Amino acid sequence: MKTILTGDRPTGKLHLGHYVGSLRERVKLQNSGEYDKIFIMIADAQALTDHADNPAAVRENILNVALDYLSVGLNPEKSTIFIQSQIPALFELTAYYLNLVTVSRLERNPTVKNEIAQKNFETSIPAGFLCYPVSQAADITAFDANVVPVGEDQAPMLEQAREIVRKMNELYGEVLIEPNIFLSSNETCRRLPGIDGKAKMSKTLGNCIYLSDDSKTLAAKVKEMYTDPLHIKVSDPGHIEGNVVFTYLDAFCEDKKTVAEMKEHYQRGGLGDVKVKKFLLEVLEEILTPIRDRRAEYENNPDEVMKILKAGTAVANEKADEVLKRVKNAMKINYFD
Ligand code: TRP
Repeated sequence: MKTILTGDRPTGKLHLGHYVGSLRERVKLQNSGEYDKIFIMIADAQALTDHADNPAAVRENILNVALDYLSVGLNPEKSTIFIQSQIPALFELTAYYLNLVTVSRLERNPTVKNEIAQKNFETSIPAGFLCYPVSQAADITAFDANVVPVGEDQAPMLEQAREIVRKMNELYGEVLIEPNIFLSSNETCRRLPGIDGKAKMSKTLGNCIYLSDDSKTLAAKVKEMYTDPLHIKVSDPGHIEGNVVFTYLDAFCEDKKTVAEMKEHYQRGGLGDVKVKKFLLEVLEEILTPIRDRRAEYENNPDEVMKILKAGTAVANEKADEVLKRVKNAMKINYFD
């Protein structure tokens, strides 16, 4: 069996970083026909670990993320899309897994460490937040997933999940399946910089192009993109390194030959930023237009989207209950069977 599980926190609309880092790969995997089951989870419970004071924002973004999923081409006929908080088995599994992980191990998780620093939690870290990698291990194992397509920043979560699986299997017999991370093969796509040239496209940094941006917004954002500050006159030789426009061409343009020629011309001098940006805009428009069209179909029909999520959640519950039962049997906490 080949099973995929992956997901996103509903804390905002998804952007091009999500698209090249993971969404585009998921759609490819979905359409490859090589997978027996595909589960895509909207991780609202995980979002609440640092948004407990604002459940309304999380609620609102469930629909945004679902629309993003459907518009990039995740197909509910092929992929089960569901909502994490509506799967009770995940919380039971989390409770048992928590006993197999030390607090110091949780504190060493580099991604969590980063987030704690970013959010200025300092000494007031919500316990649920520190433990979310354990709940993420439950998300993955509850579906017997062996393939987890995610962005690079999720590697420590996968490592933690694998450790939990090994520990569970050591203690209770071969009960869980060890998952593998699946990263985008294109290096540039693993961490897309923001339009301002900062290392990462992120909502907090305000440097995103959203999948839901309209043509006008997209054009304005491409226009203000960071290039080479030393490339003043068109005839000046330009630099490619750190020039986001070229980074995006590497990530989005299929025509590698044209990109290579443009890079060479730019470095030699004589190719203006306006021209390169115009070309990038065409490339992005070609990708985003079908995504916008599909979004428009669903956007006017939120009831239909909720129906898809409800049906997906029922399928997900069935699978997660089966795995939970297996785990409880293995742990011999099935007293009344
Ligand atoms: N941590 C992921 C994110 O921040 C979301 C997530 C939750 C997830 N559970 C998961 C991803 C399980 C992959 C597998 O986007």
